[in-house]
Amino acid sequence: MSQYVYLEPDRDRLAQVGPQFQSIGTSIVHSMADLESHLPRYPETLLVIVGASVPLDEVLMFTAYQRLQRPLIGVVLVRQNLDPADVLRCLRAGVREVIEESDWDGLRNACSRSVDLSKALSTTLHTSNEQTPYGRVITVFAGKGGCGRSVIAVNLAAALAAGGGRRVLLVDLDLQFGDVAIMLKLPPDRNIAGGIAMAGRLDEPGLRSIITPYKNGIDVLLAPSSPAQGEHVRRELVVEILDLARPNYDFIVVDTPALVTDQVLAALDISDWLVPIVTPDLPTLKSVRLTVEMFDMLDYPKDRRMLVFNRSNTEVGLTAADIEEAVGMPFAVHVPSSREVTISVNRAEPLYMTSPTHPFSLAIGRLADLCTGVQRAAVQKKRLFSRAGKDRR
Ligand SMILES: Nc1ncnc2c1ncn2[C@@H]1O[C@H](COP(=O)(O)OP(=O)(O)OP(=O)(O)O)[C@@H](O)[C@H]1O
Ligand SMILES: [Mg+2]
Repeated sequence: MSQYVYLEPDRDRLAQVGPQFQSIGTSIVHSMADLESHLPRYPETLLVIVGASVPLDEVLMFTAYQRLQRPLIGVVLVRQNLDPADVLRCLRAGVREVIEESDWDGLRNACSRSVDLSKALSTTLHTSNEQTPYGRVITVFAGKGGCGRSVIAVNLAAALAAGGGRRVLLVDLDLQFGDVAIMLKLPPDRNIAGGIAMAGRLDEPGLRSIITPYKNGIDVLLAPSSPAQGEHVRRELVVEILDLARPNYDFIVVDTPALVTDQVLAALDISDWLVPIVTPDLPTLKSVRLTVEMFDMLDYPKDRRMLVFNRSNTEVGLTAADIEEAVGMPFAVHVPSSREVTISVNRAEPLYMTSPTHPFSLAIGRLADLCTGVQRAAVQKKRLFSRAGKDRR
């Protein structure tokens, strides 16, 4: 989501400067391996800040490789002391600037210069990564059954597809009791279980062979037709599927069961947006609090979470403010309750497609807008960063 990444394995150093980076939307990674898996997922990245505790040889190898693979990315290196011989080696490998750890202003300015250079390069090279499709993963989740995950996932996929303007993959990770097939009246024969035999060597034709095309640019990866098969879908297969699908779609919407399974965690781990759903009843409220605590424990960034209040207009004694306070975050969207929703489910036609101006559909449309606003948000943060740096010059 962010265009900046800060790599710092040392927790103490991170505690000192990490919050300042995070406040301007920088992603934090803790190891070179995490950084290497982060970059292909966030092709909009323009800047990698490498912290002082990363061994120099690792930095040099990484930078020399990135210079060829992703020339738009600038590497700014932080060192405890500046040794002229090391600085020279770094610059030769393609590091843009080397800054002393104590020089916070110098670091901001170096980052700002590097981002400006990347932007200028991107214009000249005509290789803006934003033009490359790279599916944003949105995982709809609730620790309690029946709160509307599937109906929201299906309609969100329809809203994101924008009548065929975007390519969307809807994945049913409710591997035991997935409802997407009946909600969209799709034949259940092609489904994720077909991928089990291809695990570890899945390719695009293989993935296409288990996907069911729906309409308006929406493809669907259904849950297994028998609950027993779901147990054989391993976490690694889910990662393999999502990684393989991302370059071919603009968005991937993942529906989940009411349990935090290994497969669900795999999807949550690589999600750009986490969408917890809450309805106004105490058991669901309790489960969403636990969900948010789990997100905190797993270090999922707060700005990637969008809390959805489903059945928001149901008068049952719990107000939106009560729930926001209990969960500790504001609602991104209020989705009203309406019998038209249930009727549309029974007709197996997403309400967003049949009645795009229905209040339910308008709410789902707002959720889709928030999901598509990723690029806009990133650009705003980028400007903030540039300005902060320039003000100090
Ligand atoms: N906003 C709403 N207005 C009216 N009915 C709704 C709304 N949201 C969900 N429902 C109804 O609630 C029922 C459960 O919804 P859904 O299947 O989407 O929930 P779920 O969280 O996926 O449940 P499960 O645990 O079974 O997977 C459905 O019949 C659906 O039509
Ligand atoms: Mg469901």
